[in-house]
Amino acid sequence: MIYPTRRGFLAGGAAALATLSAGRTAFGAPATNVLRAAPASLQIAPSDYPETAVWAYNESAPGPELRITQGEMFRARLENALPTQGTTIHWHGVRLPNEMDGVPNVTQPPVMPGESFEYSFTPPDAGTFWYHPHQHSTEQISRGLSGVLIVEEPEPPQVDADLTLVLDDWRMTEDAQIHESFGNRHDLSHAGRLGNYVTVNGQFQWSRGVRAGDRLRLRLVNTATARIFNMRAEGLRLWVAALDGMPLAQLTEVTELTLAPAQRIDVVADVTAEPDSEALLASVERDGNFLLASFPTDSQPAQAARDRPAPFPPNEHPEPDPSEARKVALVMEGGAMRGLPDGATLNGQKMDMRALVDENQFWAFNGIAGMSEAPLIEARVGETIRIAIENRTAFPHAQHLHGYHFRLLAPDGTPGAWRDTVLVNPDETREIAFVAQTPGSWMFHCHMLSHQMAGMMTWIRVTA
Ligand code: C2O
Ligand code: CU
Repeated sequence: MIYPTRRGFLAGGAAALATLSAGRTAFGAPATNVLRAAPASLQIAPSDYPETAVWAYNESAPGPELRITQGEMFRARLENALPTQGTTIHWHGVRLPNEMDGVPNVTQPPVMPGESFEYSFTPPDAGTFWYHPHQHSTEQISRGLSGVLIVEEPEPPQVDADLTLVLDDWRMTEDAQIHESFGNRHDLSHAGRLGNYVTVNGQFQWSRGVRAGDRLRLRLVNTATARIFNMRAEGLRLWVAALDGMPLAQLTEVTELTLAPAQRIDVVADVTAEPDSEALLASVERDGNFLLASFPTDSQPAQAARDRPAPFPPNEHPEPDPSEARKVALVMEGGAMRGLPDGATLNGQKMDMRALVDENQFWAFNGIAGMSEAPLIEARVGETIRIAIENRTAFPHAQHLHGYHFRLLAPDGTPGAWRDTVLVNPDETREIAFVAQTPGSWMFHCHMLSHQMAGMMTWIRVTA
């Protein structure tokens, strides 16, 4: 039964690829929340390839899945056992005190090799979050440093299985080693460091047994530094329940999912595949569907009829009123094809395009490349900010705001979903609105991390 299904759904080439490799996975996280960043050797490629030399948290890529319950204090000690570089951990999407945000030289000094740092905070929101370094982040994340942080609802929605799927994209050499082409000018100025090998939970074509009729909660997390995943499923009925950790008021049934770098989607997935067959999740590529994960079904089905899934319990956020908000324009420019014909300001100095390229800078926000002394926005606690993010480049960008979730606004200004990372396609403008809450210096940057490196970053200062 397996092959006819796959042949219909997947491209021929993808179906013929090698069998599952038995990589080490994220499961079995230590209870102590020590995250030791160190070199490790892991079976990331299929088993007929050698192990890959990576940098990993606790010898696992992705790192350990950390779970706490909403309202609980979270603690983690980062130990840097990397050979050369300083590092930090940013808790992506978590509302926390600024000094816990993990941005080197902004919220804390980098943690140098041999040093450690204690993070502690109480996440107010339940949902799916992730953690990653914010120092040399293109290189450190591409080498394997990232993991998932789950804040459980005190009464989690009823499902038969709660499964995390970490989607990652590796750029490997032919002998399955990390390609050391970090920050080359082509990646910096085009679509970023796209890989040639995709994994789910650190494995090629990850698989998990289910029963026909099961209701699953799938937590999809994109930890890739550049790849946008477009996905389709077979044998699964999908409802989007939360975006970037924030529950939607209404569940929406979908047939396709888009996940930009750093974004998360929680879906409720009912297994509609027959007993003794399988459900599939695939990435939609130009030359066909590529298998990401399979869910072989048991010969015994689960219960039959089910109600429509209910929305997850909401998280409490101060509600922005877009009509009262201070409006800010944010124009993205640069990159291959369109460039920066008028140059940009770097470290307070106006430069032409050639001088910027010499500094490996290709992108600008409002004519400024990289971090500037003055923030993009100075806001007071309680103030509502509305940003129109305009993409004048030839590439899509996933823009992330630290510290806050924002409401995505519809073209007529109606508030839509809460997110912390928004994908803005070429020649598109997306508006966001949020109420400034916690004081501090909060980064705003492209999560195509080669773009961040090459100029696409700024910050917001919030004062009491
Ligand atoms: Cu997930 Cu500033 O990053
Ligand atoms: Cu970008």
